[in-house]
Amino acid sequence: MGTLTNAREATAEMRKVRQIRQYRPDAVPDDVLAEFLEIARWTGSSRNTQPWHFIVVTDKEQLRRISQVRAAINWVADAPLAIAIVLDGANDTAEAYDEGRVTERLLIGAHLLGLGGGTAWFGDASQQRQGKEILGIPAERTARSVVTLGYPVTSKDPRPGAAAGGRKPLSEIVSYGRLGEPGA
Ligand SMILES: Cc1cc2nc3c(=O)[nH]c(=O)nc-3n(C[C@H](O)[C@H](O)[C@H](O)COP(=O)(O)O)c2cc1C
Repeated sequence: MGTLTNAREATAEMRKVRQIRQYRPDAVPDDVLAEFLEIARWTGSSRNTQPWHFIVVTDKEQLRRISQVRAAINWVADAPLAIAIVLDGANDTAEAYDEGRVTERLLIGAHLLGLGGGTAWFGDASQQRQGKEILGIPAERTARSVVTLGYPVTSKDPRPGAAAGGRKPLSEIVSYGRLGEPGA
C-alpha cells in the first residue's frame, strides 16, 4: 500500500515536468547551475561515450540571437539561461538518443530543483548552422538544441497555434505481448 502511494506520488511529480517557455527574470543561482551541470554529467550514454559538451549561455544578446533562429523558439530570448548541447558528431543515431536522454534529465532536474526547463530546437540544417555560429561551435560537431532553465511563470504555451496539451490514453499507446493486443 505504502509502495503504491509512493508510486502515485512519483507519477504525480513527474507529471509536473512540463515544457516551460515563460520565466521570471531572476537569474539561476550559481550553486543551482552547478547542480544542473552535475545532473547532465551523470546522464548515461551509449557505451558510456559521454559524447557531449555543454555551453552555458546567460548573455542576453546571445539568447536573443538564438531565439531568432526559428519562430517556434522566440521565447528563448526571455529565459535567464540556456544550456546548449554539443555532440561530438561521431555517431548520429547514438548521439541523438543520448541527446534526448540528457535533455529529459535536465527537464526533470529543473523541476526537482524548484525551477522549470524547456527544450528549444534550432531546426533544419541551415538553422543548425546559425545556432552553431552564435555559439562558436565548429561545423563538424552536432548542435541541434538548447535547454532553457529558470523560474517558471506558467507552463502554458503562449505561442499562436500551440499544440493541444494532455496525452493519449494508455489504451491507445500500450499493448501486451504483441502489438495491438489489449490487456485483460
Ligand atoms: C524533439 C523535441 C523538439 C521540441 N522543440 C520545441 C521547440 O522548438 N519549441 C517549443 O516551444 N517546444 C519544443 N518542444 C516541446 C514540445 O512542444 C513539448 O514537449 C510538448 O508540447 C509537451 O509539452 P508539455 O510536457 O508541457 O505538455 C520540443 C520537444 C521535443 C521532444
